[in-house]
Amino acid sequence: MELKVSGLEELRKMDREHHLHPFTDHAAMHPSGTHILTGGRGVYLQGEEGRLLDGLAGLWCVNVGYGRKEIVDAVAKQMQELSFYPSFFNSTTEPAVRLAGRLGRMAPGNLDYSVFSNSGSEAKIIRQYQILKGHPDRMKILTRNYAYHGVTLATASMTGLPNCQIPYGLPLPGFLHAPAPYAYVAGREKDAEAYGQECVAATRQMIEKEGAKTIGAMFLEPVQGAGGVIVPPPGYLAAMRKLAREYEILFVADEVITAFGRLGAWFASEMWDLQPDLMILAKGLTSGYISMGATMVSRPIAEVLMKGGYFAHGFTYSGHPVAAAAALANIDILEKEKLTERTRDKVGPYFQKKLKEFAGHPAVGEVRGVGLIGAIELLPKGGRKDLKPGMNLGIVGAAKVRSEGAIVRGIRDLLAFAPPLVITEGEIDEMFSSVRRGIDKLWD
Ligand SMILES: Cc1ncc(COP(=O)(O)O)c(C=O)c1O
Repeated sequence: MELKVSGLEELRKMDREHHLHPFTDHAAMHPSGTHILTGGRGVYLQGEEGRLLDGLAGLWCVNVGYGRKEIVDAVAKQMQELSFYPSFFNSTTEPAVRLAGRLGRMAPGNLDYSVFSNSGSEAKIIRQYQILKGHPDRMKILTRNYAYHGVTLATASMTGLPNCQIPYGLPLPGFLHAPAPYAYVAGREKDAEAYGQECVAATRQMIEKEGAKTIGAMFLEPVQGAGGVIVPPPGYLAAMRKLAREYEILFVADEVITAFGRLGAWFASEMWDLQPDLMILAKGLTSGYISMGATMVSRPIAEVLMKGGYFAHGFTYSGHPVAAAAALANIDILEKEKLTERTRDKVGPYFQKKLKEFAGHPAVGEVRGVGLIGAIELLPKGGRKDLKPGMNLGIVGAAKVRSEGAIVRGIRDLLAFAPPLVITEGEIDEMFSSVRRGIDKLWD
């Protein structure tokens, strides 16, 4: 773990001169230099800054923690046996089949089939399905403001964040954004439940105005992650699910962040009984050891697709055997160590209790969370009335927390947390001590 970064300045120079980073303000990063991480064990990372507690599990994904030998061994074994073969040409590999079978057994309801990908979301299946069903007009996709579904042209159009759309001339036509139940920014946190129902009513109006028969699917993150850890108010998700059913719009749960134990259930869809028609998985599927995504499809939809002739979709690496081997070993760990149950019964409640202790802090406007995900909304010195767009207190706060020994994510004016599920109560204390010291210095 005590790895040294050799030639740090040389690496930083090379990085500055040759590497465009994702989601990065390069002008802000270059003067201070890129952080270079060299090692990870459990919830800790090692880099040139020393040891850091990773309060974001990489990027909401390292659910089983860093340095898990079981996954490393499974990957090495698979690479030695068969490093790669696609699932094209009426062929496949054993790990890909075993993973599809396992996900089919684990997933809620009739989500029995998986289409594998390398990461985020997949909307193309929906278009083909609607065409095969004789609904070629149902091409529009409905998502919400503050949604995050990825950054391809289609998924960036689904994402509801201006900075993912304005620079690229997006959204493309046919992508609709309903209000998110973000009660705090609407100033409605005292009656969040009623606000949630108002969002549902506004979504209904949007569907009616557009014409329900033009909308193919509604995508929803059960808890909106990258948009700011927006926890749905009671009754909201059930009402949105009902709405989709009423208008015969496919309901897609984007569980890229929420699946594999993060909220204290294998899938958020089970917690809220969402019975999705499709479910998107990535991140915690392999705990980030290797990139992999899966779109799970209900049996009736899969049957339409399978009877529909040639399925001209998929990637070279769909169902990559090494990634599938990593996913299987990762799920073994989650099961063996009961990390979902532990999140539900032990560390999740403890994490939420410690998070709530920030509620009275003068620099804190709201705390919210569920399971092992949470957020703290930060305030400027003058309080809520002085909060202005572009202050980015979350970015400022996250840098302060980092200098106190923990990585958390700054989003606009909030701090977001999603530590590895293996985190202990002592490590939660340590993480929130760093957070407290960072927030105490927010106004310095
Ligand atoms: C809910 C959700 N959907 C999709 C994605 C896109 O995943 P990727 O970055 O692997 O393409 C993300 C990434 O953060 C996400 O949080």
